[in-house]
Amino acid sequence: MPTLKILVGTMYGGALDVAEQVKPLFEDAGYEVAVLEQPTLVDIVEDTDLALFCTSTTGSGDFPGNIVPFVRELQEKSPGLPNLRYGLIALGDSSYGDTFCGAGRRLDELLQEQGAMRLGERLEIDAMETFMADDAALPWVESWIASQNLKVA
Ligand SMILES: Cc1cc2nc3c(=O)[nH]c(=O)nc-3n(C[C@H](O)[C@H](O)[C@H](O)COP(=O)(O)O)c2cc1C
Repeated sequence: MPTLKILVGTMYGGALDVAEQVKPLFEDAGYEVAVLEQPTLVDIVEDTDLALFCTSTTGSGDFPGNIVPFVRELQEKSPGLPNLRYGLIALGDSSYGDTFCGAGRRLDELLQEQGAMRLGERLEIDAMETFMADDAALPWVESWIASQNLKVA
């Protein structure tokens, strides 16, 4: 059974909740799913070809603390990720203006700089519009799995 890793960046648990809520959709599609609350670079460098990133933004466009080590390693080690295909869910709040979903957008750039390929569009969930992030994430993941032919079971 292939493994799907969900790498989480969260301050208050919202992005982690999204990861836990979408996990069964991937299990139904034939994956063993690992939700990583303290992601490190090794998690995706070692034989991972598909991953989902799920991160909120804190401060002023900043990464949540738990995903900072991953981002630092990505920048410092610049490992090259040509085999990685990924999806990205960014949680944010448009009342923060220019820094809306800043962490998710920056992570997307960093992954692409390493040669990773994003499958489909990034999902940006705006807390001003969507009270429960799951309401936006669940249908998005369902259609992501279908449109990218990710079902293996
Ligand atoms: C102190 C603080 C700073 C924030 N800064 C930003 C920001 O710069 N840009 C943004 O889009 N959202 C920002 N947000 C909104 C959060 O990203 C949003 O509420 C998200 O759903 C929180 O998810 P989490 O529980 O996984 O951390 C901020 C929230 C807080 C409390």
